[in-house]
Amino acid sequence: MNGLFISFEGIDGAGKSTHIAALAQAFEAQGRAVTLTREPGGTPLAETLRNLVLHEPMDALTESLLVFAARRDHIQRVIAPALAQGRVVVCDRFTDATFAYQGGGRDFDWEVLRMLERWVQARQEPQSPGLPELLQPDLTLWFDLPAAVAAQRLVGARVPDKFESQPGAFFEKVSAAYGLRCAQSPARFARIDAQSSPQTVWRDVLAAVRSKGLLA
Ligand code: TMP
Repeated sequence: MNGLFISFEGIDGAGKSTHIAALAQAFEAQGRAVTLTREPGGTPLAETLRNLVLHEPMDALTESLLVFAARRDHIQRVIAPALAQGRVVVCDRFTDATFAYQGGGRDFDWEVLRMLERWVQARQEPQSPGLPELLQPDLTLWFDLPAAVAAQRLVGARVPDKFESQPGAFFEKVSAAYGLRCAQSPARFARIDAQSSPQTVWRDVLAAVRSKGLLA
């Protein structure tokens, strides 16, 4: 059975978490082995880098280098081996988050990010005819929500990290950058209206996964 790579994206407060867990369960209920993971993170080294990125002040290039270093380790140790074993990898955020947060929120150069993406996600397996050159998710579920609504949802929810404590204008830019990434890869992305009720959002998540023929 072929491995399957699904990422979830969206601004902080978009409400991805419960749906990520539910989708993992839906695959398991159909007999698929699932690897549930997140970025930045997913390996001991990447979790250490995550802690730095989320809590230490640094410029946007340093942030980008650290999230891509974390991603490299995550791909090598977790994602690529899991896909090679035919597992379903469900990942809370992937490279679109770097384009959205560093490229959009922090106005960092998209060309540099594209270069890092090519370096970090270049496929290693020599005998992979037919596979695209770069490792990318098979499907990206983008939870789209107005920044003001997300901010309202986050009030008092938890102690905010470096990104969660950014002003609304930052998340407007993050959102716009997600929109751009979605427009650049329409076949990979499914936009989910995250303003709907949790039941409707879940129905839309299932519909998006099924319409790609990824879940019966
Ligand atoms: P989360 O796991 O609670 O979503 O927190 C991760 C935070 O890190 C979130 O605010 C988005 C941010 N982030 C980046 O800035 N760049 C990245 O490449 C990734 C994956 C996440």
